[in-house]
Amino acid sequence: MKNFPPFSALNRLAPALLLAVTSLAPAPLEAAPTVTLVAGQLTDRSVTIGARADAALEISFQYGVSSGAYTGATPAAVLPADPYATGFFASQTVIPGLAADTRYYYRLQYRTAGTTGAFTAGSERTFHTMRPAGSSFVFCIQGDSHPERAKSMFDPDLYVQTLTAASKDQPDFYILSGDDFSVDTLPTPYTQPSVTGRYTLQLPWLDLVSRSSTLFLVNGNHEQASLWNYNLPSDGTNSNQVPVWAQNARNLYYPMPAPNDASTGAFYSGNASPLSGIGPLRNSYAWQNGDALFVVIDPYWSSPAMVDNGIGSSSGKTADRWLISHGDTQYQWLQQTLEQSTAKWKFVFAHHVMGTGRGGIEIAGQYEWGGHDADGSWGFPTRRPTWPVPLHQLMVANHVTIFFQGHDHLFAHQQLDGVTYQEVPIPADYTYTAFNADAYTSGDVLPNAGYLRVTVASTGVKVEYVREFLPKDENATQVSGQVAFSYTVAAPPVPPPAATWLLPSSARASGAGGAFYTTDLAIANTGTSDATLTLKFLGHDADGTAGTEKSFTLAAGKGATYADVLGSVFGLSSGYGALRVASSTTALAVSGQTSTPAPGGGTFGQSVPAFADADLIRSGSTRTILGVREDGAFRTNLILTNGTTSPLYADVSLVDASGAVLASKRYTLPPLGMTQVTRVVRDLGVAADTAGRLVLSTPTASGALAAYAALIDATTNDPRTLLPR
Ligand SMILES: [Fe+2]
Ligand SMILES: [Fe+2]
Repeated sequence: MKNFPPFSALNRLAPALLLAVTSLAPAPLEAAPTVTLVAGQLTDRSVTIGARADAALEISFQYGVSSGAYTGATPAAVLPADPYATGFFASQTVIPGLAADTRYYYRLQYRTAGTTGAFTAGSERTFHTMRPAGSSFVFCIQGDSHPERAKSMFDPDLYVQTLTAASKDQPDFYILSGDDFSVDTLPTPYTQPSVTGRYTLQLPWLDLVSRSSTLFLVNGNHEQASLWNYNLPSDGTNSNQVPVWAQNARNLYYPMPAPNDASTGAFYSGNASPLSGIGPLRNSYAWQNGDALFVVIDPYWSSPAMVDNGIGSSSGKTADRWLISHGDTQYQWLQQTLEQSTAKWKFVFAHHVMGTGRGGIEIAGQYEWGGHDADGSWGFPTRRPTWPVPLHQLMVANHVTIFFQGHDHLFAHQQLDGVTYQEVPIPADYTYTAFNADAYTSGDVLPNAGYLRVTVASTGVKVEYVREFLPKDENATQVSGQVAFSYTVAAPPVPPPAATWLLPSSARASGAGGAFYTTDLAIANTGTSDATLTLKFLGHDADGTAGTEKSFTLAAGKGATYADVLGSVFGLSSGYGALRVASSTTALAVSGQTSTPAPGGGTFGQSVPAFADADLIRSGSTRTILGVREDGAFRTNLILTNGTTSPLYADVSLVDASGAVLASKRYTLPPLGMTQVTRVVRDLGVAADTAGRLVLSTPTASGALAAYAALIDATTNDPRTLLPR
C-alpha cells in the first residue's frame, strides 16, 4: 500500500510520476496494491469517494468528526473490475448520513478480496460538508494542468508541490479548469485503453489534493469530450468513440454531480440529459455553499459545431462562430439558476469564454457570449432569437461576482460591467511563463505557476494567487507559497427593498395553563414579478436592527406559509417579538396567526395582519383602538412596534365614552424595537374597572409605528385582536 505518504514524503512519489508522464502511460506500479482515492459529489449530508486499485481488494471507509476517532464505517465491499482497464479495480462509495457544516476525517480499510484477515488502514483524509448561509470558507482553483506537455509547460514535481500546497489550505473544493486530460495528442487509432490512460494518469496527483478537499472538474477543449466528436462518422481512427471513452473514464474515476443523482438527491442542478453510451454527462452543474452559488458550464458537450479543435479526418473550424453554442437547454438552466439564486456571491466556471479564442474581456463582447458579430455589429437578435440577453449580459444582470476561466495559461485579472474575469494560472509550468499575455490588453497579468486561493466571507471574496517554484528556481524574489497578487471583491450594496411589512408580534412561547404559542407566517405574492423576500426577527424590548435575516424567493402568484416561523425559519427554541418582511416587489399580502393547542383537542389563537407602510401610525396623525377593557372579565395588552431604524416615542392615551382622557403615557421604543404593555390600563395608571379606547400617536419626526391590542378573556384566556383605526 504505497499511495498514502505523509506530505513530507511526497517527493518519493515524484519519480514514478515522471516516468508516467514520459511514457504517457498510467503510473508504473511496484508491489500491489496501489490505491488512489478521489473525493467528490459533496453535499450537506454525503460525500462520494472514487477508489481505483491495481489489485482485487475488499474495501470500506471509516469516518468520524474527530481526527483518529472513527465512529462510522461503510459496509465492506469488493472493488469490481475496472471495465476500462484490465488488471485494475474501481468503484465509487457514498458515505451517507453526515451532518451539514461539519469537518469529517476518514480513511480507507482494505484487504485482499476473498480473504478473511484483518483490514489494513490507509492514511487519514478529511473534507468539510456543505455549509449554511453566513459561513466563511476557502476554495482553490487551478488552470490547465496539461500533464502531457512535459517538455513545454509541465513538471511533475512542481505539480506535486502545487497540489500539496493547496491541500494544506484544506479548501472545501479544489476546482480544475479543463485541459487536464488531453487526449488529442494520442496516437491514432485511438483506443479505449489509451483514452482511459489520460484519466488514470492524473489519479495519483489529484489524490494528493483530494486528501483534504473535494474535486470539481471543468471540461476543456483538449479533453475532446464533445458533441461534435460524438457526432462524427466512423472513420477508422475511432474519433467518434473518443468522447464516449473519455467521459466514461472521467465519470467512473472522478465523482462528479448530476441532478437528482441517487447519492446527492436535489442538492445539485445541472445537465439532466443522458447521452447514449454514457448516461448523465455530469459536465455542467450548480450548487450553493454558504452564501455562494457555484455554476460550471460547458460548451463542448452542447455545441453542434466544433468549438476549438477536434479530432478525426473531418476536423475543421467554422468561420461563423455563432454556430458555436452552449445550447438552448444549458442557457435556460443557467438563466434560471442565476435568477433564482439569492446567494450573495455567484461564481461561474468555464474553460474559456465561448470555449475558444484567446483573452478575457477582449473577446467577451463577441457572438453568443457578448452579442456582437466579428465586425462589431449587434448580431444577437437574429442569431439567438429565443435568448433574452447574451451570456455576459446574463452574468451582469444577475450580479455574477467572478467568472473563472482557464485555457490561456497565465494569471489575468480583469473587470467588465461589474463582473470580474479571472484567468487562472496553471499549476506546474516550470518555465514560469505568462502564455498568451499579448491577448490581454488590460488588467493585472502575471506569469505561472501556482493556484488561486479564494476566501469567501460575508464581507467580501478574497482571491490570492499563490505561486510555486521548484526548489532550484527559488531565490529572494521567487518563494514558493508567496501571494503574488491579491484582491478582494466587496459585498455588493444591498438594494433597498421595494416595500416592507411589520408583523407586530410573533411567538414561540409557553403560556398559562400549559399553552404553547407558535406563529405561522403566511405570505402571498399577488403581483406579476417574482419576489425576493428577507425575513428579519426583531425580538422585543431591544434594538431590532441587528436581528437575524433569512432570504427566500416567492414566484409571482405563489403563496407560502412558514409554519412556526420562529422555530422553522430562525431556529429559535423559544422567544417572541416582531417580524419585518422586506420584499423586492410591492404586491404582497402578509399575515400571522399565533395559536396554541387546546386541552382536549383543537386550537386557540388569533390572527394579526402585517402592517404595510400605509398602515403605520406616523407623526402628525393619530389612530384609535376601540374595545379596550380592564375588569374581572377581560384584560388588555398593547403591542407597540417601531417601524423605523431610529428610536421613537409612542404616546398612548386612554379615553372613555364621554371623550374624557383618563390617562396618558409616553413609551420609548428602540430602533425596530417591539414592546408588549401588559394590562395597558393599569400601566397607564388607571386602577378602576374601565372600558374605553386607546388613542395612539408619535411626536417623533419621521416616526412610524405599528400597534394593536389583545383583549383577553379572563376565564378562557382567549385573545381577540383589536386593530387601530
Ligand atoms: Fe484549452
Ligand atoms: Fe490548455
